[in-house]
Amino acid sequence: MDLNEIRKNFFEEIGKAKDLKEIEEIRIKYLGRQKGELMRILRSLKDLPIEKRREIGSQANALRKDIEQALNEKLKQLQTTNYKLQTNLDITRPGLKPKTGHLHPLTKIEQEIRQIFISMNFSVVEGPEIENEYYNFDALNIPKNHPARDVWDTFWIKSPSKSEKFLLRTHTSPVQVRYMEKHQPPFQIIAPGKVFRYEATDASHETNFYQIEGLMVGENISLANFKFIIEQFFKKFFQGKKIDFRFRPSYFPFVEPGVEVDIKIEKAKNQSSWLEVMGAGMVHPNVFKAVGYNPYEVTGFAFGVGLERLAMIKYGIPDIRLFHSGDLRFIRQF
Ligand code: PHE
Repeated sequence: MDLNEIRKNFFEEIGKAKDLKEIEEIRIKYLGRQKGELMRILRSLKDLPIEKRREIGSQANALRKDIEQALNEKLKQLQTTNYKLQTNLDITRPGLKPKTGHLHPLTKIEQEIRQIFISMNFSVVEGPEIENEYYNFDALNIPKNHPARDVWDTFWIKSPSKSEKFLLRTHTSPVQVRYMEKHQPPFQIIAPGKVFRYEATDASHETNFYQIEGLMVGENISLANFKFIIEQFFKKFFQGKKIDFRFRPSYFPFVEPGVEVDIKIEKAKNQSSWLEVMGAGMVHPNVFKAVGYNPYEVTGFAFGVGLERLAMIKYGIPDIRLFHSGDLRFIRQF
């Protein structure tokens, strides 16, 4: 082949090339170091007379440039068309949002409450969900056969020993006793956790729910300290909304005096009403005696609040059973 034939053949072949492999074959056929057509001519230049050598040499070099350029262009062209053919990428199509999970509303509320109390220098402690009768009742000044015990409908657990009766704790108050047995005042703690009651369920009662216990003990701790702490807590929890408080006398065997706390939250349309949110009071001397404290030396307040109750008020949830229903339509709203 002379230069004209090479040019003609090359452009014919490159025009028909369909894939990378064919392009590579054409490149080798014309530009290959060993057997390439154009290389053969460039190699034979040295045998030509000087005049011819110049003429053919410059023509051959020009052709080589044309060939290289054509090969590159073909490559680019093939890459873009292949890309279009191989992917169905449609960048105008609406995307699929990846599904991610999130914390359960009760977990979120509990974390929030922990943070508020931690910011007031409270420690967070925990106790067992399976309790014995002593911690759940006796040490809390709830004697056997006393009618007050019936307030806490109890799931009893078959126990291997006659001397120790086990149950699912009906409140978080036993954690008070467990903590005081091992620590000396002054201190302030909260104890969040699951509690269980053997009772019929309805929109405001569940057999399984969460409480947070609070306990502050030291010299000269009074109900005034309790009022301050609890008002601070609710103001933070309801993010600065105006809240009225009512402390009603009430009875719990492990406190004296005992109170129930009601709150009234300022709402948009003035339709607020009193909501009962917690039981509380000054720790009963008998509870201090049970843990070996001298009730003449220390005083303290305790409170117990239902987590679901607070979540229901905060988010406007009408039925406590929704929390444990596992209904994703409910869960996904948080
Ligand atoms: N343990 C009580 C209940 O479950 C609540 C409470 C706690 C009351 C601490 C007073 C003091 O009903």
